[in-house]
Amino acid sequence: MANNQINHVALIMDGNGRWAKKRGLPRTKGHEEGCKRIIEIFDAVKANHIFCMTLYAFSTENWNRPKSEITLLFQYLDKFFKDNIATMMKDGVRVQVMGDISRLPKHSQKTVTKAIEQTKNNNNYVFNIALNYGSRQELVKATKEIAELVKENKLDINDINEQTISDHLYTYNLPPIDLMIRTSGEQRLSNYLLYQLAYSEFIFTPTYWPDFTKDKFEECLKEYQTRDRRYGKIEE
Ligand code: IPE
Ligand code: IPE
Ligand code: MG
Repeated sequence: MANNQINHVALIMDGNGRWAKKRGLPRTKGHEEGCKRIIEIFDAVKANHIFCMTLYAFSTENWNRPKSEITLLFQYLDKFFKDNIATMMKDGVRVQVMGDISRLPKHSQKTVTKAIEQTKNNNNYVFNIALNYGSRQELVKATKEIAELVKENKLDINDINEQTISDHLYTYNLPPIDLMIRTSGEQRLSNYLLYQLAYSEFIFTPTYWPDFTKDKFEECLKEYQTRDRRYGKIEE
């Protein structure tokens, strides 16, 4: 069994609504309980010496949900940062955001910008949160930035390579993603990190996010250790 250190884990927290429905509760209760798991899982990330956690919190497609649910999700986001920023500072956690935050409610833009600014010099861990994030939009943004450099004669077209693209993604300063976990049983990416996950290991667990405890997360880490990452090579 390999003993591969995980540097970067990406999560799709899914199933909050179904968790609540199963209990006869409003969907919002699922999001409320789900918020508690974020910090529990991030504690486990730190305990397992994983440098970075990337979390899908709001997709570009989630704007299609009822306005009342969207409003509440962003209120929870504010509360999450207010409750946890002091611990993040103490633990040397840097907050990063993926996505266009200009479409977020003003109060969330403020909270998020403040968290990024306050934690920018921290280097022990990264808490990377995807807000109004879509991988296709990210690739369009990267393409435009690269085209602009070529147009301004700052970049030769023949020098464009895989690294050039990586350098223009939100994850430009983060290590490759070793493991991607999606909860709730759905087996799709839902526009998440299409380029970055090219060689990551995937775990799809049927557990709904509010039930995804530290123990369940650590089972996933164990499962990862049984994987053989060949990268196209064969065993010698
Ligand atoms: C994930 O849970 C949280 C967000 C997308 C913000 P869902 O809200 O998607 O829950 P289900 O998939 O409807 O159960
Ligand atoms: C993906 O979950 C987005 C987040 C977890 C933030 P969704 O619940 O929105 O994805 P679909 O609709 O099942 O693809
Ligand atoms: Mg869902």
